[in-house]
Amino acid sequence: MTEQASPRHGRVRTPRRLGRAPAPDDLDPMERASRDTLEEHQLRRLRWTLRQAYEHQPFYRRKCEAAGVVPEDLTELADLARFPFTTKQDLRDAYPYGAMAVPMDRVLRLHASSGTTGHATVAGYTRGDLDIWSDLVARCIRASGGRPGEKVHVAYGYGLFTGGLGAHYGAERLGCTVIPVSGGQTARQVQLIRDLRPETIMVTPSYLLAIADEFRAQGFDPRDTSLRTAILGAEPWTEAMRAEIEGTFDLHAVDIYGISEVMGPGVANECVEAKDGLHVFEDHFLPEIVDPVDGGVLPEGTEGELVFTSLTKEALPVVRYRTRDLSRLLPGTARPAFRRMAKVSGRSDDMVVIRGANLFPTQVEEQVLRIAALSPHFQLVLRRPGRLDELTVRVEHRPEATATAVEEAGERLREAVKEHTGVSGTVEVTAPGTLERSVGKIRRIVDERPA
Ligand code: DLL
Repeated sequence: MTEQASPRHGRVRTPRRLGRAPAPDDLDPMERASRDTLEEHQLRRLRWTLRQAYEHQPFYRRKCEAAGVVPEDLTELADLARFPFTTKQDLRDAYPYGAMAVPMDRVLRLHASSGTTGHATVAGYTRGDLDIWSDLVARCIRASGGRPGEKVHVAYGYGLFTGGLGAHYGAERLGCTVIPVSGGQTARQVQLIRDLRPETIMVTPSYLLAIADEFRAQGFDPRDTSLRTAILGAEPWTEAMRAEIEGTFDLHAVDIYGISEVMGPGVANECVEAKDGLHVFEDHFLPEIVDPVDGGVLPEGTEGELVFTSLTKEALPVVRYRTRDLSRLLPGTARPAFRRMAKVSGRSDDMVVIRGANLFPTQVEEQVLRIAALSPHFQLVLRRPGRLDELTVRVEHRPEATATAVEEAGERLREAVKEHTGVSGTVEVTAPGTLERSVGKIRRIVDERPA
Protein backbone atom coordinates (compact mmCIF):
# COMPACT_ATOMS: atom_id res chain seq x y z
CA MET A 1 0.00 0.00 0.00
CA THR A 2 1.48 3.34 -0.92
CA GLU A 3 1.49 6.38 1.29
CA GLN A 4 -0.98 8.13 -1.02
CA ALA A 5 -3.49 5.33 -0.67
CA SER A 6 -3.19 5.09 3.10
CA PRO A 7 -6.10 6.06 5.33
CA ARG A 8 -3.77 8.53 7.11
CA HIS A 9 -3.58 10.56 3.99
CA GLY A 10 -7.30 10.60 3.62
CA ARG A 11 -7.27 13.02 6.58
CA VAL A 12 -5.05 15.63 5.01
CA ARG A 13 -6.97 18.87 5.11
CA THR A 14 -4.31 20.89 3.26
CA PRO A 15 -3.74 18.98 0.05
CA ARG A 16 -2.22 21.87 -1.89
CA ARG A 17 -4.11 24.95 -0.79
CA LEU A 18 -2.11 28.01 -1.69
CA GLY A 19 -0.20 29.82 0.98
CA ARG A 20 -0.46 33.54 1.63
CA ALA A 21 1.59 35.47 -0.90
CA PRO A 22 2.68 38.90 0.38
CA ALA A 23 1.01 41.94 -1.17
CA PRO A 24 3.33 43.39 -3.85
CA ASP A 25 3.71 46.59 -1.81
CA ASP A 26 5.14 44.58 1.08
CA LEU A 27 8.06 43.30 -0.98
CA ASP A 28 11.50 44.95 -0.88
CA PRO A 29 12.17 47.01 -4.02
CA MET A 30 14.83 44.51 -5.11
CA GLU A 31 12.33 41.64 -4.84
CA ARG A 32 10.27 43.45 -7.48
CA ALA A 33 13.15 44.66 -9.65
CA SER A 34 13.70 43.55 -13.23
CA ARG A 35 16.50 41.13 -13.96
CA ASP A 36 18.43 43.94 -15.72
CA THR A 37 18.25 46.24 -12.73
CA LEU A 38 19.27 43.40 -10.45
CA GLU A 39 22.27 42.54 -12.61
CA GLU A 40 23.44 46.17 -12.59
CA HIS A 41 23.43 46.04 -8.79
CA GLN A 42 25.14 42.69 -8.79
CA LEU A 43 27.97 43.89 -11.01
CA ARG A 44 28.60 46.95 -8.88
CA ARG A 45 28.49 44.97 -5.65
CA LEU A 46 30.59 42.16 -7.07
CA ARG A 47 33.38 44.56 -7.99
CA TRP A 48 33.36 45.86 -4.44
CA THR A 49 33.42 42.34 -2.94
CA LEU A 50 36.30 41.21 -5.15
CA ARG A 51 38.32 44.21 -4.09
CA GLN A 52 37.54 43.59 -0.39
CA ALA A 53 38.60 39.96 -0.63
CA TYR A 54 41.71 40.76 -2.66
CA GLU A 55 42.87 43.52 -0.33
CA HIS A 56 41.97 42.01 3.03
CA GLN A 57 42.05 38.23 2.69
CA PRO A 58 45.69 37.23 2.18
CA PHE A 59 44.79 33.68 1.12
CA TYR A 60 42.45 34.99 -1.56
CA ARG A 61 45.01 37.44 -2.90
CA ARG A 62 47.55 34.61 -3.17
CA LYS A 63 45.03 32.52 -5.08
CA CYS A 64 44.33 35.40 -7.47
CA GLU A 65 48.03 35.96 -8.03
CA ALA A 66 48.51 32.27 -8.78
CA ALA A 67 45.61 32.43 -11.25
CA GLY A 68 46.91 35.67 -12.77
CA VAL A 69 43.75 37.73 -12.15
CA VAL A 70 43.10 41.06 -10.45
CA PRO A 71 39.70 42.48 -9.45
CA GLU A 72 39.82 44.92 -12.39
CA ASP A 73 39.60 41.95 -14.77
CA LEU A 74 35.92 41.71 -13.96
CA THR A 75 34.02 43.77 -16.51
CA GLU A 76 30.82 41.69 -16.63
CA LEU A 77 29.19 39.13 -14.34
CA ALA A 78 30.35 36.20 -16.49
CA ASP A 79 33.98 37.15 -15.76
CA LEU A 80 33.51 35.82 -12.24
CA ALA A 81 34.22 32.31 -13.60
CA ARG A 82 37.85 33.39 -14.10
CA PHE A 83 38.35 33.97 -10.37
CA PRO A 84 39.52 31.31 -7.92
CA PHE A 85 37.20 29.50 -5.52
CA THR A 86 37.18 29.90 -1.76
CA THR A 87 37.00 26.55 0.02
CA LYS A 88 36.18 25.47 3.52
CA GLN A 89 39.85 24.54 3.85
CA ASP A 90 40.86 28.16 3.06
CA LEU A 91 38.66 29.37 5.91
CA ARG A 92 39.94 26.64 8.24
CA ASP A 93 43.52 27.60 7.48
CA ALA A 94 42.62 31.21 8.25
CA TYR A 95 41.13 30.20 11.64
CA PRO A 96 40.15 32.14 13.64
CA TYR A 97 40.35 35.66 12.17
CA GLY A 98 42.52 35.45 9.06
CA ALA A 99 39.56 35.81 6.67
CA MET A 100 38.07 38.91 8.31
CA ALA A 101 38.16 41.81 5.90
CA VAL A 102 37.56 44.49 8.56
CA PRO A 103 39.40 45.33 11.79
CA MET A 104 38.12 43.16 14.65
CA ASP A 105 36.75 46.19 16.49
CA ARG A 106 34.12 46.42 13.75
CA VAL A 107 33.04 42.80 14.26
CA LEU A 108 30.00 42.71 16.53
CA ARG A 109 29.21 39.01 16.49
CA LEU A 110 30.88 35.68 15.84
CA HIS A 111 29.29 32.38 14.85
CA ALA A 112 31.08 29.14 14.08
CA SER A 113 30.33 26.05 12.06
CA SER A 114 29.96 22.92 14.16
CA GLY A 115 33.25 21.44 13.02
CA THR A 116 31.71 17.99 12.50
CA THR A 117 33.65 17.53 9.27
CA GLY A 118 36.91 18.96 10.64
CA HIS A 119 38.16 22.14 12.30
CA ALA A 120 35.46 24.76 12.84
CA THR A 121 35.29 27.88 10.71
CA VAL A 122 34.47 31.25 12.26
CA ALA A 123 32.08 33.77 10.73
CA GLY A 124 32.14 37.43 11.76
CA TYR A 125 29.49 40.11 11.25
CA THR A 126 29.66 43.90 11.28
CA ARG A 127 26.67 46.00 12.30
CA GLY A 128 25.83 46.33 8.62
CA ASP A 129 26.09 42.55 8.10
CA LEU A 130 23.74 41.88 11.03
CA ASP A 131 21.31 44.43 9.69
CA ILE A 132 21.17 42.85 6.24
CA TRP A 133 20.95 39.37 7.75
CA SER A 134 17.89 40.41 9.79
CA ASP A 135 16.30 41.98 6.70
CA LEU A 136 16.84 38.80 4.72
CA VAL A 137 15.43 36.47 7.36
CA ALA A 138 12.44 38.83 7.67
CA ARG A 139 12.06 38.41 3.90
CA CYS A 140 12.14 34.62 4.35
CA ILE A 141 9.43 34.63 7.00
CA ARG A 142 7.22 36.89 4.88
CA ALA A 143 7.79 34.72 1.79
CA SER A 144 6.83 31.69 3.89
CA GLY A 145 3.52 33.29 4.89
CA GLY A 146 4.41 34.96 8.22
CA ARG A 147 3.23 38.51 8.90
CA PRO A 148 4.04 41.29 11.37
CA GLY A 149 2.10 40.96 14.60
CA GLU A 150 2.21 37.15 14.55
CA LYS A 151 4.19 34.88 16.85
CA VAL A 152 7.24 32.91 15.76
CA HIS A 153 8.46 29.93 17.80
CA VAL A 154 12.20 29.51 17.17
CA ALA A 155 13.34 25.94 17.84
CA TYR A 156 16.64 26.19 15.97
CA GLY A 157 19.53 26.00 18.41
CA TYR A 158 20.77 29.29 19.87
CA GLY A 159 24.50 29.73 20.24
CA LEU A 160 27.38 29.51 17.81
CA PHE A 161 25.04 27.82 15.30
CA THR A 162 23.52 30.52 13.09
CA GLY A 163 20.01 29.02 13.12
CA GLY A 164 18.61 30.34 16.43
CA LEU A 165 19.90 33.89 16.49
CA GLY A 166 19.54 34.26 12.72
CA ALA A 167 15.86 33.32 12.89
CA HIS A 168 15.36 35.38 16.04
CA TYR A 169 16.50 38.73 14.72
CA GLY A 170 14.75 38.17 11.40
CA ALA A 171 11.43 37.54 13.15
CA GLU A 172 11.90 40.67 15.26
CA ARG A 173 12.79 42.66 12.17
CA LEU A 174 9.53 41.62 10.51
CA GLY A 175 7.66 42.80 13.58
CA CYS A 176 6.76 39.40 15.00
CA THR A 177 6.67 38.30 18.63
CA VAL A 178 9.63 35.92 18.99
CA ILE A 179 9.44 32.92 21.28
CA PRO A 180 13.14 32.00 21.63
CA VAL A 181 12.89 28.37 22.74
CA SER A 182 16.04 26.93 21.07
CA GLY A 183 16.35 23.17 20.52
CA GLY A 184 15.73 20.42 23.08
CA GLN A 185 13.33 19.94 26.01
CA THR A 186 10.79 18.51 23.61
CA ALA A 187 8.00 18.15 26.16
CA ARG A 188 8.32 21.85 26.88
CA GLN A 189 8.25 22.70 23.17
CA VAL A 190 4.83 21.06 23.01
CA GLN A 191 3.58 22.91 26.04
CA LEU A 192 4.80 26.27 24.72
CA ILE A 193 3.20 25.70 21.32
CA ARG A 194 -0.09 24.82 22.99
CA ASP A 195 0.00 27.70 25.48
CA LEU A 196 1.55 30.56 23.51
CA ARG A 197 -0.15 29.75 20.19
CA PRO A 198 2.51 30.72 17.61
CA GLU A 199 1.48 30.88 13.94
CA THR A 200 5.00 30.03 12.69
CA ILE A 201 7.70 27.62 13.81
CA MET A 202 11.31 27.73 12.63
CA VAL A 203 13.03 24.40 13.19
CA THR A 204 14.86 21.58 11.42
CA PRO A 205 12.46 19.17 9.70
CA SER A 206 13.84 16.24 11.70
CA TYR A 207 13.27 18.00 15.02
CA LEU A 208 9.75 18.96 13.99
CA LEU A 209 9.04 15.24 13.56
CA ALA A 210 10.32 14.62 17.09
CA ILE A 211 8.00 17.39 18.32
CA ALA A 212 5.11 15.68 16.48
CA ASP A 213 5.89 12.41 18.29
CA GLU A 214 5.84 14.27 21.59
CA PHE A 215 2.43 15.80 20.81
CA ARG A 216 1.05 12.29 20.26
CA ALA A 217 2.83 10.92 23.33
CA GLN A 218 1.06 13.59 25.41
CA GLY A 219 -2.25 12.62 23.81
CA PHE A 220 -2.65 15.64 21.52
CA ASP A 221 -3.20 15.73 17.78
CA PRO A 222 -0.48 17.86 16.14
CA ARG A 223 -3.08 18.91 13.58
CA ASP A 224 -4.92 20.90 16.21
CA THR A 225 -2.19 23.47 16.93
CA SER A 226 -2.17 27.18 16.08
CA LEU A 227 0.75 26.60 13.68
CA ARG A 228 0.15 27.57 10.07
CA THR A 229 3.71 27.70 8.76
CA ALA A 230 6.91 25.75 9.40
CA ILE A 231 10.12 27.24 8.03
CA LEU A 232 12.40 24.25 7.74
CA GLY A 233 16.05 24.01 6.88
CA ALA A 234 19.63 23.37 8.03
CA GLU A 235 19.49 19.82 6.63
CA PRO A 236 18.30 18.18 3.41
CA TRP A 237 14.65 17.16 3.22
CA THR A 238 12.49 15.96 0.36
CA GLU A 239 9.07 16.62 -1.17
CA ALA A 240 7.96 13.36 0.45
CA MET A 241 8.96 14.80 3.83
CA ARG A 242 7.05 18.00 3.03
CA ALA A 243 3.89 15.94 2.45
CA GLU A 244 4.53 14.01 5.67
CA ILE A 245 4.98 17.16 7.76
CA GLU A 246 2.11 19.09 6.15
CA GLY A 247 -0.17 16.12 6.76
CA THR A 248 1.00 15.67 10.34
CA PHE A 249 0.55 19.30 11.42
CA ASP A 250 -1.90 20.75 8.89
CA LEU A 251 0.41 23.61 7.99
CA HIS A 252 2.59 24.86 5.15
CA ALA A 253 6.13 23.49 5.23
CA VAL A 254 8.51 25.89 3.48
CA ASP A 255 12.23 25.45 2.79
CA ILE A 256 14.90 27.88 4.03
CA TYR A 257 18.57 27.51 3.06
CA GLY A 258 21.72 28.99 4.46
CA ILE A 259 25.27 28.24 5.45
CA SER A 260 27.35 29.95 8.11
CA GLU A 261 30.32 30.75 5.87
CA VAL A 262 27.98 32.62 3.49
CA MET A 263 25.81 34.19 6.25
CA GLY A 264 23.50 31.73 8.01
CA PRO A 265 19.80 31.07 7.36
CA GLY A 266 18.29 33.39 4.76
CA VAL A 267 20.48 32.93 1.70
CA ALA A 268 17.46 31.47 -0.13
CA ASN A 269 13.86 30.66 0.72
CA GLU A 270 10.80 29.22 -0.92
CA CYS A 271 7.67 31.26 -1.58
CA VAL A 272 4.72 29.58 0.10
CA GLU A 273 2.35 30.25 -2.80
CA ALA A 274 4.54 28.18 -5.14
CA LYS A 275 6.74 25.84 -3.04
CA ASP A 276 8.75 25.20 -6.16
CA GLY A 277 12.33 25.63 -4.99
CA LEU A 278 14.17 28.35 -3.10
CA HIS A 279 14.56 31.86 -4.47
CA VAL A 280 18.16 32.89 -3.98
CA PHE A 281 18.36 36.44 -2.64
CA GLU A 282 20.49 37.48 -5.54
CA ASP A 283 20.77 41.11 -4.47
CA HIS A 284 23.10 39.79 -1.74
CA PHE A 285 24.40 36.43 -2.99
CA LEU A 286 25.42 35.42 -6.48
CA PRO A 287 24.87 31.69 -7.05
CA GLU A 288 26.66 29.40 -9.49
CA ILE A 289 26.49 25.67 -10.07
CA VAL A 290 29.81 24.05 -10.85
CA ASP A 291 31.02 20.60 -11.71
CA PRO A 292 32.11 19.16 -8.33
CA VAL A 293 35.14 17.52 -9.93
CA ASP A 294 36.62 20.03 -12.37
CA GLY A 295 34.96 23.21 -11.06
CA GLY A 296 33.64 24.25 -14.48
CA VAL A 297 30.47 26.39 -14.44
CA LEU A 298 27.42 24.31 -15.43
CA PRO A 299 24.41 25.61 -17.35
CA GLU A 300 21.09 26.46 -15.67
CA GLY A 301 19.10 23.33 -14.84
CA THR A 302 22.09 21.00 -14.46
CA GLU A 303 22.79 19.46 -11.08
CA GLY A 304 26.13 20.27 -9.52
CA GLU A 305 27.78 21.93 -6.53
CA LEU A 306 26.35 25.21 -5.29
CA VAL A 307 28.82 28.07 -5.14
CA PHE A 308 28.04 31.47 -3.61
CA THR A 309 29.70 34.85 -3.82
CA SER A 310 28.54 37.34 -1.21
CA LEU A 311 27.77 40.79 -2.63
CA THR A 312 27.33 42.98 0.45
CA LYS A 313 29.13 41.24 3.31
CA GLU A 314 31.73 43.37 5.08
CA ALA A 315 33.37 41.22 7.78
CA LEU A 316 33.60 37.95 5.88
CA PRO A 317 33.17 38.44 2.15
CA VAL A 318 33.35 35.15 0.27
CA VAL A 319 34.18 34.85 -3.41
CA ARG A 320 32.97 31.67 -5.10
CA TYR A 321 32.55 29.74 -1.87
CA ARG A 322 32.16 26.02 -2.51
CA THR A 323 29.31 24.78 -0.35
CA ARG A 324 29.57 21.06 -1.29
CA ASP A 325 25.77 21.10 -1.50
CA LEU A 326 24.22 19.65 -4.62
CA SER A 327 21.39 21.48 -6.35
CA ARG A 328 20.32 23.04 -9.65
CA LEU A 329 19.64 26.64 -10.63
CA LEU A 330 16.26 27.40 -12.18
CA PRO A 331 14.63 30.59 -13.47
CA GLY A 332 12.67 32.77 -11.04
CA THR A 333 8.90 32.27 -10.61
CA ALA A 334 7.15 33.97 -7.68
CA ARG A 335 10.07 36.47 -7.52
CA PRO A 336 10.91 36.64 -11.23
CA ALA A 337 14.29 38.35 -10.87
CA PHE A 338 15.66 35.88 -8.32
CA ARG A 339 16.70 32.51 -9.72
CA ARG A 340 15.68 29.49 -7.73
CA MET A 341 17.80 26.67 -6.41
CA ALA A 342 16.17 23.24 -6.39
CA LYS A 343 15.84 21.61 -2.97
CA VAL A 344 19.31 20.43 -1.97
CA SER A 345 19.59 16.75 -2.77
CA GLY A 346 22.55 16.24 -0.47
CA ARG A 347 26.02 17.27 0.50
CA SER A 348 28.90 15.69 -1.31
CA ASP A 349 30.26 14.68 2.15
CA ASP A 350 27.07 12.70 2.83
CA MET A 351 27.28 10.62 -0.30
CA VAL A 352 27.51 6.95 0.55
CA VAL A 353 29.45 4.82 -1.93
CA ILE A 354 28.72 1.11 -1.71
CA ARG A 355 30.60 -1.01 -4.22
CA GLY A 356 30.71 1.73 -6.78
CA ALA A 357 27.06 2.81 -6.46
CA ASN A 358 26.31 6.22 -4.90
CA LEU A 359 23.46 7.09 -2.63
CA PHE A 360 22.26 10.11 -0.68
CA PRO A 361 20.08 9.89 2.44
CA THR A 362 17.40 11.94 0.63
CA GLN A 363 17.02 9.13 -1.93
CA VAL A 364 16.28 6.70 0.87
CA GLU A 365 13.91 9.21 2.51
CA GLU A 366 11.81 9.34 -0.64
CA GLN A 367 11.50 5.56 -0.77
CA VAL A 368 10.79 5.17 2.96
CA LEU A 369 7.92 7.65 2.79
CA ARG A 370 6.27 5.82 -0.09
CA ILE A 371 5.61 2.86 2.16
CA ALA A 372 2.65 3.39 4.46
CA ALA A 373 3.88 1.10 7.24
CA LEU A 374 7.18 2.99 7.61
CA SER A 375 7.74 6.15 9.66
CA PRO A 376 10.02 9.00 8.57
CA HIS A 377 12.60 7.99 11.20
CA PHE A 378 15.49 6.18 9.55
CA GLN A 379 19.29 5.87 9.58
CA LEU A 380 21.87 4.53 7.18
CA VAL A 381 24.33 2.27 8.96
CA LEU A 382 27.66 1.57 7.26
CA ARG A 383 29.68 -1.47 8.29
CA ARG A 384 32.68 -3.35 6.93
CA PRO A 385 32.48 -6.92 8.19
CA GLY A 386 35.02 -8.19 5.66
CA ARG A 387 36.75 -6.26 2.93
CA LEU A 388 33.62 -4.66 1.49
CA ASP A 389 31.34 -1.95 2.86
CA GLU A 390 27.77 -2.89 3.65
CA LEU A 391 24.70 -0.73 4.06
CA THR A 392 21.82 -1.33 6.43
CA VAL A 393 18.80 0.96 6.37
CA ARG A 394 17.37 1.03 9.86
CA VAL A 395 13.83 2.41 9.88
CA GLU A 396 11.03 2.55 12.43
CA HIS A 397 7.60 1.30 11.48
CA ARG A 398 4.53 3.38 12.25
CA PRO A 399 2.80 2.51 15.52
CA GLU A 400 -0.40 1.46 13.77
CA ALA A 401 1.26 -0.89 11.23
CA THR A 402 0.33 -4.57 11.46
CA ALA A 403 2.99 -7.29 11.78
CA THR A 404 2.38 -8.43 8.21
CA ALA A 405 2.61 -4.91 6.86
CA VAL A 406 5.88 -4.38 8.72
CA GLU A 407 7.37 -7.53 7.28
CA GLU A 408 6.35 -6.61 3.73
CA ALA A 409 7.55 -3.04 4.19
CA GLY A 410 11.14 -4.10 4.91
CA GLU A 411 11.32 -6.17 1.76
CA ARG A 412 9.69 -3.46 -0.34
CA LEU A 413 12.14 -0.85 0.90
CA ARG A 414 15.12 -3.06 0.15
CA GLU A 415 13.88 -3.54 -3.42
CA ALA A 416 13.03 0.14 -3.90
CA VAL A 417 16.46 1.30 -2.72
CA LYS A 418 18.12 -1.18 -5.05
CA GLU A 419 15.90 -0.14 -7.97
CA HIS A 420 16.28 3.62 -7.50
CA THR A 421 19.93 3.87 -6.45
CA GLY A 422 21.59 0.64 -7.53
CA VAL A 423 22.74 0.04 -3.95
CA SER A 424 22.04 -3.40 -2.46
CA GLY A 425 21.67 -3.26 1.26
CA THR A 426 19.69 -4.82 4.04
CA VAL A 427 16.75 -3.25 5.85
CA GLU A 428 16.05 -3.52 9.55
CA VAL A 429 12.57 -2.39 10.56
CA THR A 430 12.55 -1.39 14.22
CA ALA A 431 9.85 -0.49 16.72
CA PRO A 432 8.60 3.11 17.05
CA GLY A 433 10.82 5.27 19.26
CA THR A 434 13.93 3.10 18.96
CA LEU A 435 16.09 5.38 16.79
CA GLU A 436 17.88 8.43 18.09
CA ARG A 437 15.89 11.68 17.61
CA SER A 438 17.64 14.87 16.60
CA VAL A 439 17.11 18.13 18.43
CA GLY A 440 18.85 20.00 15.61
CA LYS A 441 20.52 18.71 12.49
CA ILE A 442 19.86 15.02 12.09
CA ARG A 443 22.66 12.49 11.74
CA ARG A 444 21.41 10.11 9.06
CA ILE A 445 24.64 8.20 8.54
CA VAL A 446 25.99 6.00 11.30
CA ASP A 447 29.44 4.91 10.26
CA GLU A 448 30.49 1.77 12.09
CA ARG A 449 33.36 0.95 9.75
CA PRO A 450 36.79 0.52 11.34
CA ALA A 451 38.79 3.76 11.07
O1 DLL B 1 22.53 25.25 8.79
C1 DLL B 1 22.19 27.61 8.51
C2 DLL B 1 20.73 27.42 8.59
C3 DLL B 1 20.10 27.49 9.82
C4 DLL B 1 19.98 27.21 7.45
C5 DLL B 1 18.75 27.33 9.89
C6 DLL B 1 18.63 27.06 7.52
C7 DLL B 1 18.00 27.12 8.73
P1 DLL B 1 25.50 25.55 8.77
O2 DLL B 1 25.42 25.00 10.14
O3 DLL B 1 26.74 26.24 8.36
O4 DLL B 1 24.36 26.61 8.55
O5 DLL B 1 25.20 24.37 7.79
C8 DLL B 1 25.09 24.62 6.43
O6 DLL B 1 23.44 22.88 6.15
O7 DLL B 1 25.80 23.55 3.58
C9 DLL B 1 23.66 22.39 3.87
O8 DLL B 1 24.42 21.20 3.76
C10 DLL B 1 22.74 22.30 5.06
N1 DLL B 1 21.50 23.05 4.81
C11 DLL B 1 21.16 24.26 5.27
N2 DLL B 1 19.91 24.59 4.84
C12 DLL B 1 19.49 23.55 4.07
C13 DLL B 1 18.30 23.26 3.34
C14 DLL B 1 23.01 26.36 8.63
N3 DLL B 1 17.26 24.08 3.31
C15 DLL B 1 24.71 23.35 5.72
N4 DLL B 1 18.25 22.11 2.65
C16 DLL B 1 24.55 23.56 4.23
C17 DLL B 1 19.29 21.24 2.66
C18 DLL B 1 20.52 22.59 4.05
N5 DLL B 1 20.41 21.44 3.35
